[in-house]
Amino acid sequence: MKFSNTFLLRKLHQITGIVPLGAFFFVHMFTNSKAMSGEKVFNDAVADIHHIPYLLFVEIFGIFLPLLFHSIYGIIISGEARVNNFNYGYGRNWFYTFQRITGAFLFFFIFFHILNLRFGLIPGLESYNNPVAGNADKAFDIVAAEFQNPFILTFYILGIAATAWHLAYGIWLFAVDWGIIIGEKAQKYALYACLALAFGLFAVGTNAAIAFVRPCGLFPKVFCSELEKKGVVVPNKSGKF
Ligand code: HEM
Repeated sequence: MKFSNTFLLRKLHQITGIVPLGAFFFVHMFTNSKAMSGEKVFNDAVADIHHIPYLLFVEIFGIFLPLLFHSIYGIIISGEARVNNFNYGYGRNWFYTFQRITGAFLFFFIFFHILNLRFGLIPGLESYNNPVAGNADKAFDIVAAEFQNPFILTFYILGIAATAWHLAYGIWLFAVDWGIIIGEKAQKYALYACLALAFGLFAVGTNAAIAFVRPCGLFPKVFCSELEKKGVVVPNKSGKF
């Protein structure tokens, strides 16, 4: 018996990719984007997360276990022949291959990222023994110090790109497989919409990452200094927000 033929596990694999993991990613990029408004706004957002009641249970059952299941099952079915129940064109087969490649990359990226910022377990990095969790008042500074290293920043931008693609194309695969989008034309337009979503998520996520090394990210500073004028953002001594 092939694992990929186990109907219930396959459906569970698809659904965990959308909720909770996909939903988490939207929320995560929203929180990270608060870095555009500076250190205080971002640190307050991190502190708010740490005030969620039963946080450890929310993390274990809402993120870590679904992530573990989704990635391990994804690796198992990637190694098996695919049950081809749609009529894929040439391009779509490439998309599917790319789905596996980004999945494999994400396995390593997310493992590194959680050990790094959540648990502070990567020697030599700013967060070592100094994780963001439990140090909300230093959250912005910890991430900003790490992102000064161009290799780390590039690795994160690749992680954002891989997640944006994997999630957006995953939504399309889900919608087709669950019979939500049926006609060939509808599937084509839905694919364009998902590609636009991938690009949008990549742009927002990358801008958030850049906001840790340059005030306001890739946007002109005047865009964010409006916030300063309104007193939402308080610049610190170094002139950094
Ligand atoms: C701009 C790039 C990113 C930044 C600055 C960033 C920042 C952070 C921080 C600071 C934490 C620790 C939160 C805490 O302990 O309160 C965290 C956790 C996490 N991040 Fe990211 N992240 C980025 C990209 C990503 C990407 C692309 C993914 C892929 C899905 C991701 C998935 C996660 C997960 C699963 C956790 C653990 C959540 C938890 O334990 O509550 N992150 N991130």
